[in-house]
Amino acid sequence: MYFKQILDEHNGCASYIIASRETHEAAIVDPAIDIRPYEELLDERDFTLKYVIDTHIHADHVSGARKLVAARGGELCLHEVAPVVYPFRPLEDGEELQLGQLRLRVVHTPGHRPEVISILIVNPPRSPEPSMVLTGDSLLVGDVGRPDFGGENVAGRYAADQYESLTRLLRLPDWVAVFPGHFEGPCGKGMCGRPSTTIGFERLFNPLARLDRKAFLDTVLNGVPARPLNMDAIYNTNRGVIDKPWAMLTTSPHVAEITPEALPARAANALVLDVREPDEYTGGHVPGAVNIPQSLIASRLDDLPRDRPIVTVCRSGYRAHRAAQFLKQVGYAQVENLQGGTEAWREAGRPLAFGDAGDSGDAGDTGLERRPVAETLWTHAGVLGAVQPATSAPAAGS
Ligand SMILES: [Fe+2]
Repeated sequence: MYFKQILDEHNGCASYIIASRETHEAAIVDPAIDIRPYEELLDERDFTLKYVIDTHIHADHVSGARKLVAARGGELCLHEVAPVVYPFRPLEDGEELQLGQLRLRVVHTPGHRPEVISILIVNPPRSPEPSMVLTGDSLLVGDVGRPDFGGENVAGRYAADQYESLTRLLRLPDWVAVFPGHFEGPCGKGMCGRPSTTIGFERLFNPLARLDRKAFLDTVLNGVPARPLNMDAIYNTNRGVIDKPWAMLTTSPHVAEITPEALPARAANALVLDVREPDEYTGGHVPGAVNIPQSLIASRLDDLPRDRPIVTVCRSGYRAHRAAQFLKQVGYAQVENLQGGTEAWREAGRPLAFGDAGDSGDAGDTGLERRPVAETLWTHAGVLGAVQPATSAPAAGS
């Protein structure tokens, strides 16, 4: 067999090429929107693309699956409950896809999303047992996928599904190598950073693996990261209901930092854009700041003036830095980021305003609007450039 993991350093995603050396048939799992690396590999190795599989509908990055099928053929595969509006081959639990001598066995592992599948890779000439499992965002290294991407106010139910899925995966033999859909980024809150692990190691050392059901639910539901940058546009693009592949941050433009001391003068003619979740905003924000959560920025560009400076603000600088980079990517020329965010503003003795988030979006999307927003450095994928967080402890996050 042939197997390769491809890591997207910018977004913390992992994709995979699996092929039979006997038949030269290949499958690609969770392809990124830049399909050139896959095409080059298919050409170099003289592989024919037979299957393109998305383990779930991604909310943090635009899938390259449809683009890849259009360019190179093959069947586009998703779990049968995937809520997309384009044709695909529906997969069900237990089904096997044949790839030369290899078998790709579908395991339905809902939780992070209802349609998440894991894929067991079996190479019968070597062993009747699986040697690898691609887990999407069900089992991550040292973590599991966040449970709140499934829709409104159902995070608790999806967390329960996640518990069952984790339990099922951890019944696999110790030796099975685990290859997740992410090594960093906002789909989890405690990823280790390694791009692979084993079932045996996770069963022993994944902090969620030894929890009973109630403790597991409490842990995964008590705080999730903020909804990802441009989640609304990215998720709906991946469903096929809109087409905004540009909503993904793919560049790292320089963003100037502005200090709390310099902000009042700048704010005289600038729009101060608070990109935190509505509950964070109502709990204390820079006076005059407008709240558009980062998840909605690409969907609400019409609300953001191009003829005025914009200063982005979050809790301590990371989220707003990436939001500012995105605004620059789509052509906003005058964008700065408040260094250290609202925390630095408060620590500088500046006043906070409280209350109404206005039409800043439905925090109820997560079902967790009363929970604290959990963040670590690992919830921020990619290179953060010159951001200098006001807090020194990495775990303080943004
Ligand atoms: Fe995901």
